[in-house]
Amino acid sequence: MSTAISPTAYNYKVVRQFAIMTVVWGILGMGLGVFIASQLVWPELNFGLPWTTFGRLRPLHTNLVIFAFGGCALFATSYYVVQRTCQTRLISDSLAAFTFWGWQAVIVGAIVTLPLGYTTTKEYAELEWPLAILLAIVWVTYGLVFFGTITKRKTKHIYVGNWFYGAFIVVTAMLHIVNHASLPVSFFKSYSAYAGATDAMIQWWYGHNAVGFFLTTGFLGMMYYFVPKQAERPIYSYRLSIVHFWALITLYIWAGPHHLHYTALPDWAQSLGMAMSIILLAPSWGGMINGMMTLSGAWHKLRTDPILRFLVVSLAFYGMSTFEGPMMAIKTVNSLSHYTDWTIGHVHAGALGWVAMISIGALYHLIPKVFGRQQMHSIGLINTHFWLATIGTVLYIASMWVNGITQGLMWRAINDDGTLTYSFVEALQASHPGFIVRALGGAFFATGMLIMAYNVFRTVRASNPAEAEAAAQIAVVGAH
Ligand code: HEM
Ligand code: HEM
Repeated sequence: MSTAISPTAYNYKVVRQFAIMTVVWGILGMGLGVFIASQLVWPELNFGLPWTTFGRLRPLHTNLVIFAFGGCALFATSYYVVQRTCQTRLISDSLAAFTFWGWQAVIVGAIVTLPLGYTTTKEYAELEWPLAILLAIVWVTYGLVFFGTITKRKTKHIYVGNWFYGAFIVVTAMLHIVNHASLPVSFFKSYSAYAGATDAMIQWWYGHNAVGFFLTTGFLGMMYYFVPKQAERPIYSYRLSIVHFWALITLYIWAGPHHLHYTALPDWAQSLGMAMSIILLAPSWGGMINGMMTLSGAWHKLRTDPILRFLVVSLAFYGMSTFEGPMMAIKTVNSLSHYTDWTIGHVHAGALGWVAMISIGALYHLIPKVFGRQQMHSIGLINTHFWLATIGTVLYIASMWVNGITQGLMWRAINDDGTLTYSFVEALQASHPGFIVRALGGAFFATGMLIMAYNVFRTVRASNPAEAEAAAQIAVVGAH
């Protein structure tokens, strides 16, 4: 029997589409991560072809994991959260559908153009101008759908998770549009509108806030909905959530210069970036503590609930990487860590430990709900996934710490006569065991994603989406 769906029911279709694509892009992006990690162990895997070299596949990896995997997770969860917390359907189904197809088109564009070598050369902003324009249009539409839905909410206040999603959407638009200002000279080549140190500063204002708003603020929005939901506890402190929201967005925007220590950037700007980064520890930990403390009285649930484990361990990694980041922003520490694998370890503590694990936890919560099932097909497989992801992340980070500090110390070691003690190749040889362990850790993490795909497939196969939407409709009606 098919269930008639009233237009007042939530739009779960777009949530389902983005949720499935999160898993698909996660597998591809992380699979590619394992491949480029293996290229650093076995350089023969570059195959001597331009399209398959590390230099071209690395930006494809970053685009796939950040924008395709992370982006789809943010779209899926924000559309789900905004509807449920505002108790209303998305303001426009066709605009929401446009954001889905438009976003997939941008990703496919990246998959085609980056291996061919078309790139602006700006990190995390590599896509050439035609794709960058499409991305901007999709993003502005996303803003219209999200904020439009908030304006027609049936609740009095705007739930704090939506504040975080909202800031992430507004600031990402601003960063993308300003950093991409450029002069096209052909269909596939453009030059930045900025020059020299200004260009570098704008790029890292973008780059750091891509971390701060795309990889952090959006995922904090996710955290504020899914942690209390899964723990079945109210958020620990609503007041703390407001204070750390304003502190976080006020401070993040200043921290970019810590990517440009000891460069042509004026010294005062470097010191300002360093100071703001250190202060950033406070609001970051405010968020982490708020999430963790939400579990007070519910800690025992961790014994039986692997979804909650994903969410809590992601917060632990968030706390760890936002302690490490401010330390690395101190100029003297950065003189050791910069250019080394320590940075790569820090990145993946945030990317695997925080971004990927909170997304995975949120998806395991959300997928059964939007597909009309009680729970995922197998809780045991979620548990297996949890351990593969945790062990994989730890192997990745630990090997990169060892490599990073080894490289930093070997590069700066000087003999009595002022010559370098080690050649670059010697430092590279010393890094080889760490590269192997990192590839292994990455393979653990990617295997977990394959298990997730199987679990999702089994859940979806037994699903009844119409029922999910009918249930959502009852929830909306019941809420009045
Ligand atoms: C199976 C999992 C993964 C593996 C094996 C992996 C592997 C790698 C490798 C080998 C690099 C290049 C490092 C270098 O240049 O020396 C890299 C860079 C990077 N990856 Fe991943 N990665 C994985 C997952 C992720 C995820 C989930 C994200 C984000 C959500 C991510 C974000 C990044 C970023 C931002 C960089 C550039 C770092 C920088 O320039 O400092 N990775 N990854
Ligand atoms: C308080 C929070 C944080 C601070 C102050 C911070 C600071 C830093 C510093 C100093 C660097 C090294 C810059 C360099 O030497 O080139 C760095 C790199 C990086 N961090 Fe963080 N970090 C923080 C949190 C995070 C989180 C949570 C993530 C991920 C989700 C993250 C992702 C990255 C990435 C992707 C890079 C590499 C950028 C590149 O060179 O390509 N950071 N961060």
